[in-house]
Amino acid sequence: MEQIIQTVLETGLEKPVRILHATDVHLVEYAAEDPVEQQEHMIARREVFRKEANFPPHTQNEYFEEAFRMAEEQDALMVVTGDVMDINCKGNWKEFHRIADGHDFMFTPGSHEFAKFCRTPKEDFPAYYAQARPQVEAAFPNIKFRFDSRVVGGLNVVTIDNSEDYFREQEFEALKKEAEKGLPMVLFMHEPLHDHGLLRIATPNPVLRRTAEEYRINDEMISFIGRCPLILATFAGHWHGQTEAVAPFGAKVYVTPGLFKGIVRMIEVR
Ligand SMILES: [Fe+2]
Repeated sequence: MEQIIQTVLETGLEKPVRILHATDVHLVEYAAEDPVEQQEHMIARREVFRKEANFPPHTQNEYFEEAFRMAEEQDALMVVTGDVMDINCKGNWKEFHRIADGHDFMFTPGSHEFAKFCRTPKEDFPAYYAQARPQVEAAFPNIKFRFDSRVVGGLNVVTIDNSEDYFREQEFEALKKEAEKGLPMVLFMHEPLHDHGLLRIATPNPVLRRTAEEYRINDEMISFIGRCPLILATFAGHWHGQTEAVAPFGAKVYVTPGLFKGIVRMIEVR
């Protein structure tokens, strides 16, 4: 690994709990059965990530393997916040399975998991997404894509899908249920809580626009996360760089860089 960012949170646990946060792996593999356009796209995208990562000594595949090893050696729970696969193709499915199968980890998806190309035209996206999402979910039956939680040493670790630029009502209800457990929580999601997409600072694309009611629930969820005293911090990826910030309504946000750069975050909750 090229860099391990250390983050310590204090909440008074009996014994410290370690979490390894990895995000935005961006596997760029293809298989013979993938359409030629996707195969060519994956070859072109390899260079994009090599360059964005400033030509690191290892591939994203190797860093992904190393992250699993590191989590196991250091007794840390591995949590992966999406964009593991740069696009939805069989080559990436196989590589994700090859590296991750047999390991214990939590996962929440990014937008890339369900995309035909890295920039699927916005107007094509809804129709493609509608058929791709169930296929991808079926290909990884051990993963709870929308929402998952696990209590480790008195800490409640929660993953929430916000890869579509908003929080759905179902996940808001699930989070409120988690809060009823009364345990300190850390939340993991793909998009940082103060992302322009989630907050709609940029003009929403008319094709992907949600209903006013959906946006109201999304905003209420962001406000709930900020106000809930049990939530110690939120962790995200998506931006590929490192940021710490306070989101509107007061939630602490840690953004972890892309694993394709050889960077992970080791979180210790005490
Ligand atoms: Fe990404």
